[in-house]
Amino acid sequence: MSKVRVYEIAKQLGLSNKELLNTLKEFDIEVKNHMSSLTDEEASIVTEYYAPSNGENNKEVVDTNKETMEIEDDNEDLDVISIPTNVTVKDLAERLGKQSSDIVKSLMLKGIMATANQEIDYETASSVALEFDFLTEEEEEKDIVDEFFAEEPDDEEDLVTRSPIVVVMGHVDHGKTSLLDAIRESNVTSREAGGITQHIGASVVTINDNDITFLDTPGHEAFTAMRLRGAMATDIAILVVAADDGVMPQTVEAINHAKAANVQIIVAINKIDKPGANQDRVKQELVEYGLVAEDWGGDTICVPVSAIEKTGLDQLLEMILLVSEMEELKANPNKKASGTIVEAQLDKGRGPVATVLIQNGTLKVGDAIIAGTSYGKIRAMIDDKGRRVKQAGPSTPVEILGLSEVPVAGDAFYTAKNEREARHVAEKVIRRDREKLIQNTPQKVTLDDLFSQ
Ligand code: GTP
Ligand code: MG
Repeated sequence: MSKVRVYEIAKQLGLSNKELLNTLKEFDIEVKNHMSSLTDEEASIVTEYYAPSNGENNKEVVDTNKETMEIEDDNEDLDVISIPTNVTVKDLAERLGKQSSDIVKSLMLKGIMATANQEIDYETASSVALEFDFLTEEEEEKDIVDEFFAEEPDDEEDLVTRSPIVVVMGHVDHGKTSLLDAIRESNVTSREAGGITQHIGASVVTINDNDITFLDTPGHEAFTAMRLRGAMATDIAILVVAADDGVMPQTVEAINHAKAANVQIIVAINKIDKPGANQDRVKQELVEYGLVAEDWGGDTICVPVSAIEKTGLDQLLEMILLVSEMEELKANPNKKASGTIVEAQLDKGRGPVATVLIQNGTLKVGDAIIAGTSYGKIRAMIDDKGRRVKQAGPSTPVEILGLSEVPVAGDAFYTAKNEREARHVAEKVIRRDREKLIQNTPQKVTLDDLFSQ
């Protein structure tokens, strides 16, 4: 014999519990309350009464009209609480003014095993609430995606000075990587395929106890998006212009990116050791793009350098530190990290690997992050020197492992409370993206539409 409870039938028939309880009384069916079970036979009596299978309403058999009116009034006395579509046992208990254990017990009686932190659906929550004499209404779902991404401003007192993030941009082969090699005394240029940079390399250089985070970018015209991403995440842009070549198309593009990102530009006039070098010509050409050198009466810092002969490097670094000091760069290391994905790829052995730049907060191994539709718990972090690290603070670039999919470079990343929240938000983002896609897709697709793509 299957069991069905009074409130379930009431719901099915669109009645209040009390209305149904009264009708049951009229039929001499003894029940204690809306949680009582009915036999199949008892259930069919009332069902037949309210929704007869022959299509006729037998309501005249018992006239409960008068009582129904009273009952509806009674119902208004029941407290109504609003609960979200998915609510944890603990949250429900709080809303009902009960202990979590009361809710767990009630669920157990329904054959549902749940712990305090477990989520239950609206229907279940509603039936539990009813047991405690509460009616429920579904709470309007807050946009958890918006809520999640809403940045809380930092308190002034939590802020500490952070090191500058500097992007190196310029035309192909003007010596960006060589300049960085000279500064960090490394030799990346020689290892690059065809001597061309194809990715954003991030590295931290320590100068007299001051750290500077450098992002190298490719100068080749094919990498416009990468240069733009580099500029967006940074505080200062070093515009490398070869003294023997002058301002070239990607130099102009870099200037525009830096301006769009509102990033201060420092010009490094490179290759001054070359016979054809002409610094004045470079300065002259830059004027056309709104960059007037200081010694020409403007406010653009221009430093002549040679990456090969390692000249002018100290002056360039000094200028970087000076400008960053003026910008008063601050961050709060005592909160969950957020920043930008600077690069990402799928590694055969390690899965999705991303280089992230932490712009605020501290990122730790074990943190759950979300970047666009990608999410996951950080399995390992590797710093720019190839060392495994457990945590990384503001202005630090690190390589991270553990994401569900390869994130899109340029996307922001945020830290969630835990992996479950990260997944939840990512799923909502995916759903929202999909809805947007559907909305933007023409309703009627013609053959022309298909072939014009
Ligand atoms: P992409 O990343 O491909 O845009 O190039 P890049 O700007 O990083 O240039 P890279 O450092 O690879 O240098 C290009 C060439 O210029 C190399 O052959 C370097 O040795 C040479 N070079 C770089 N700086 C100097 C310099 O100061 N003087 C001279 N003489 N050659 C330089
Ligand atoms: Mg390069």
